[in-house]
Amino acid sequence: MANDLFFFSKETYDEEGGIITIYFDNAATTSLDETILESYDAFVKEYYANAASVHTFGLRSAEFEEKARKQIASLLKWKEEEVIFTSGATESNNLAIKGVAFSYRSRGNHLITTKVEHASCLEAFRQLEQFGFEVTYLDVKSDGTIAYEDLENAIKENTILVSIMAVNNETGAIHDLTKIGKIIKKYPKIFFHSDITQAIGKIPLDLELVDLASMSLHKIHGFKGSGILLKRGFIELMPLLSGGGQEFGYRSGTNNVPFEVSAAKTIRLALLKQKENYQKVQKLRDLLWDGLKKIEGVTLNSTLNGSPYIVNFSVLKKASVVVEALSKKEIYVSTKSACSSKKSSLSYVLKAMGKEDKEAKNAIRVSFSDYSTSQEVELFLKELKEILNDIQ
Ligand SMILES: Cc1ncc(COP(=O)(O)O)c(C=O)c1O
Repeated sequence: MANDLFFFSKETYDEEGGIITIYFDNAATTSLDETILESYDAFVKEYYANAASVHTFGLRSAEFEEKARKQIASLLKWKEEEVIFTSGATESNNLAIKGVAFSYRSRGNHLITTKVEHASCLEAFRQLEQFGFEVTYLDVKSDGTIAYEDLENAIKENTILVSIMAVNNETGAIHDLTKIGKIIKKYPKIFFHSDITQAIGKIPLDLELVDLASMSLHKIHGFKGSGILLKRGFIELMPLLSGGGQEFGYRSGTNNVPFEVSAAKTIRLALLKQKENYQKVQKLRDLLWDGLKKIEGVTLNSTLNGSPYIVNFSVLKKASVVVEALSKKEIYVSTKSACSSKKSSLSYVLKAMGKEDKEAKNAIRVSFSDYSTSQEVELFLKELKEILNDIQ
């Protein structure tokens, strides 16, 4: 076990097959798929030319870029010109939300979202309020999802955008995008954006009625700093980055073609195994769920109809101390989401779900990937029980 802060064992198992590390923080990020790394490595060394250069070497890069874009479009059933490469979901969310708001301001200045979105959406909306936009933040029920009639009731004459995430990153709560899409389609002036970062490649997903969708590839074993915004062709966006006009003018800056090629492979692999992985992870979630229910003082905050990849629960002890004790045993989980865990200790997501302060403060998130195993879940439960008993 590690005492040195900078020690990290990359190996999950020792020579006898014993578990060394348990990585249950896959909603924060996943490990990189070895085959994605291998093809990236070969590609990045060979095709380094700028895709915007007009010589044949540059054109070769541009060809690979377009091939990747085409493959992603076909895998996700969107059009090629609707795939915008970005640096991740934070950028995609900002581009979608601010881009629509500023492009369609003459139509109206009212925007609708929920109280439980990822910070990269919520903070974009807060910034827009400073520019005079009016934002409705929908409440959620105790299961972490909105009441769909609340959305309908919040729509006004001047509403131009609704942004609702597919899967919540703290609890795994799932929104039905088709149900939301059907409500929004009754209002042709409103666009529907969804942050699908914790959903893509993990749960069954229907994007037919979605106008804009954001994702990050590192949540499904791809590269950090690599993302996509899907945007229907009829929508205009005010770009956040001005410059050379790459990405149809929506996102200037030299394209990272090796990342784009890797993005196509990441999505292909994730979708290929989505169903199989879902069933596998569902079994792990059920095992964890049953084990957690037997531990005194543990309250489950997720629900069984949420994404099986994320299980959130509260403890009667200080969650940060529990997470630290687990970490000393090389078991890695989160208190809330990685992005907000260093800020306030109170989860705004759990508060919005009506949890008490002490529950919202002492929440732990376990998040699986398809690499997770039942042996890891069993060992996790054993160690957690011991730690909860040991801590005063
Ligand atoms: C739901 C959700 N949206 C957006 C993001 C932001 O992703 P990134 O940090 O890769 O930009 C995350 C990452 O934690 C997320 O879980």
